[in-house]
Amino acid sequence: MATVRLRGLVDPHVHLRDLGETHKETYATGTAAALAGGVTTVLGMPNTKPPTIDQATLTRAAEAVRATARCDVGLFVGAAQGNAQEAARLAPQTVGLKIYLDATYGPLRVNDWATLLAHFRAWPRGRVIAVHAEELSVPLAVGLAWAHGQRLHLCHISRREEIAFIQAAKAQGAPITCEVCPHHLFLDETDLPRLGALGLMRPPLATPDDRAGLWEHLDVFDCVATDHAPHTREEKAQPTPPPGVPGLETSLPLMLTAVAEGRLTLDRLVELMHSGPRRVYRLPNPPDTWIEVDPADRWTIPDHGFQTRPAWSPFAGMAVQGRLRRATYRGRLAFEDGQVLAPEGSGRLVQSTV
Ligand code: NCD
Ligand code: ZN
Ligand code: ZN
Ligand code: ZN
Repeated sequence: MATVRLRGLVDPHVHLRDLGETHKETYATGTAAALAGGVTTVLGMPNTKPPTIDQATLTRAAEAVRATARCDVGLFVGAAQGNAQEAARLAPQTVGLKIYLDATYGPLRVNDWATLLAHFRAWPRGRVIAVHAEELSVPLAVGLAWAHGQRLHLCHISRREEIAFIQAAKAQGAPITCEVCPHHLFLDETDLPRLGALGLMRPPLATPDDRAGLWEHLDVFDCVATDHAPHTREEKAQPTPPPGVPGLETSLPLMLTAVAEGRLTLDRLVELMHSGPRRVYRLPNPPDTWIEVDPADRWTIPDHGFQTRPAWSPFAGMAVQGRLRRATYRGRLAFEDGQVLAPEGSGRLVQSTV
């Protein structure tokens, strides 16, 4: 089959779980999953154990990335109470500041005036503040960013009202960008009876009308991000399962399927999965890096055999069209026909340029 060559994809929102929750994922396994999904740059979130909120944890994370990652990895610093000055000092070592305005996995929620103001005042202008903001936290975050001259990136937008508001705010010149996740585009709450805990994440699967609203506003989004959030099957079977689903290995085939169905063009896919995230986070382009996909290959997403440590998928059983054949990263064949070839330690730590 004829293959199409694309730029290596950039996933601006993943959870790699090193250093304290390596039973869920590591830099080595998470970046293997990335390459198997055609992703050659991932941005790692700070809700790790311990949380990445100071120089000591950021240094340990950076060293582990350099020693074990298989593709480009950028790291966020997390906002917490009392770390606004330190986070601002760490900015050049990161791809952005992450603020969790709503409850989700991990202890990093911040929603008091004093802490929020301290971070929006201290963070260096021109660098990104990424937020987990749901429902009325969306206009709250936009207002804070606008008032303080900060660039805001809204993670995993999932509801019709949210994206309609973002469209209106962008039209008025608000300094904001946003991302959408494949699980919010391809699943909704009607899938929950079937999926059980494997369909639980923050923000939750929304209504079919919310999902339709995301597709209708696809032109408002700057990036597709997986929010790859690995938790084991055993953890998902507990009475209070942790929120989050893996996504690195399924985002490209799902989006290629949408291209095959005429929902977006291949150029727009490249914008959402390469140029958009690079522009938002001002990321370097790894040299001699590209992927080859077979856009005609029809297959069914399996329920096992993934590179990600938990090795399950909420998309198992879905028929897709389009498959990654090969990934070349920094001049070396890194993935071919199901096999990850890039060794641990061949990846790079990257930062945003300003
Ligand atoms: C994420 C996780 O598991 O770290 N979970 C999730 O449901 N999305 C946290 C987050 O991105 O909010
Ligand atoms: Zn989140
Ligand atoms: Zn974006
Ligand atoms: Zn996340």
